[in-house]
Amino acid sequence: MSILITGGAGFIGSHTCVEILDAGYDVVVVDNLSNSSRKALERVEKITGKTLKFYEADVRNTDALRKIFSENSIDAVIHFAGYKAVGESVREPLKYYDNNIGCTVSLLSVMDEFGVKRIVFSSSATVYGIPEKMPITEEMPLSAINPYGRTKLFIEEILRDRYNADNGWSIALLRYFNPIGAHKSGLIGESPKGIPNNLMPFISQVAVGRLTELHVFGDDYNTSDGTGSRDYIHVVDLAKGHVKAIEWAFTHTGCEAFNLGTGKGTTVMELRDAFVRASGVDIPYVIDPRRPGDLDELYASCDKAKSVLGWEATLNINDMCKDTWLWQRDNPNGYD
Ligand code: NAD
Ligand code: UD1
Repeated sequence: MSILITGGAGFIGSHTCVEILDAGYDVVVVDNLSNSSRKALERVEKITGKTLKFYEADVRNTDALRKIFSENSIDAVIHFAGYKAVGESVREPLKYYDNNIGCTVSLLSVMDEFGVKRIVFSSSATVYGIPEKMPITEEMPLSAINPYGRTKLFIEEILRDRYNADNGWSIALLRYFNPIGAHKSGLIGESPKGIPNNLMPFISQVAVGRLTELHVFGDDYNTSDGTGSRDYIHVVDLAKGHVKAIEWAFTHTGCEAFNLGTGKGTTVMELRDAFVRASGVDIPYVIDPRRPGDLDELYASCDKAKSVLGWEATLNINDMCKDTWLWQRDNPNGYD
């Protein structure tokens, strides 16, 4: 069985390539390397001892996709390709609509042409907008609070329409909470371009001296220590969730959403402290004002993923910090 992984050179994509290869599938990656490095794929091959096929191409390019589908007998697709920076999406919304929605529409049209009807899509907890209560379950109302979130919401709608028009499709909408961590080999991990927007890469770059101190965005939230709380999930657990979703897609039709998280919240200060313990390196910090749009706490109910996919997270915050540290220590400048 052959799985096409769009955006497979990226952070979550590269870890998913490892798990999909280890599960015995053939892997074909398409990525334009706009936010990633070819080195990630070389390291995937090193970790697994297996080879994958790589096409450097833009997923919006339907001719390039046709060539990939013609040259490979693709059975299912995992679709990661897209942009993900919330702040940039507010400043440059069209860039996000063009890339995120454009990639999905061109991919679905070529899948249609080749009769491939199984897709696992990278959605996000951001589709819940400002949730009314915790934990968040899949049937809670959806809304978007920024253009990036709107692209995820629109793509989910496009995929639901795709299924409604042809019930032969299998579509898994995976709503990730906060993916962090790295493969335990320390060979692949998150390598953001520029100054990181997200908490964990910021902490790990302070640890290796690329940044001087952590800016904690607000200490007056309604949480145990006043700092924001999120449901962090180890990227390897998340990657294994994709293997389960692919297995589901091979045995079911439907369009189903699944939360992938741990169901537990961790505050900014708890994550910082766990990282200090795991690395033995101090992380100096200052308290800054709240970041606009941030909520007190967000955490998932993952009951549906457990009962339907047979998946649940197994790695904890200490594993996430230990593995992030190993990756960042050995690769202080990421893949550069
Ligand atoms: P990433 O930027 O590391 O990976 C995305 C990959 O897609 C990159 O390799 C990039 O080069 C590629 N890409 C982008 N546009 C492309 C195009 N037009 N054609 C071909 N390749 C293209 O991001 P990630 O963290 O691995 O996220 C993967 C997916 O998961 C994204 O869709 C993201 O929105 C979603 N997601 C991520 C998070 C997170 O916290 N990392 C949370 C929720 C959802
Ligand atoms: C962010 C995105 C979300 C996306 C997710 C994963 C925003 C508003 N939301 O979620 O759409 O799906 O990333 O990519 O950008 N924090 C600090 N200092 C920092 C960075 C973060 O204190 O330097 C705090 C934040 O206030 C928050 C927590 O750390 O309480 C986590 O932040 P972050 O890693 O950016 O993730 P989210 O905001 O949950």
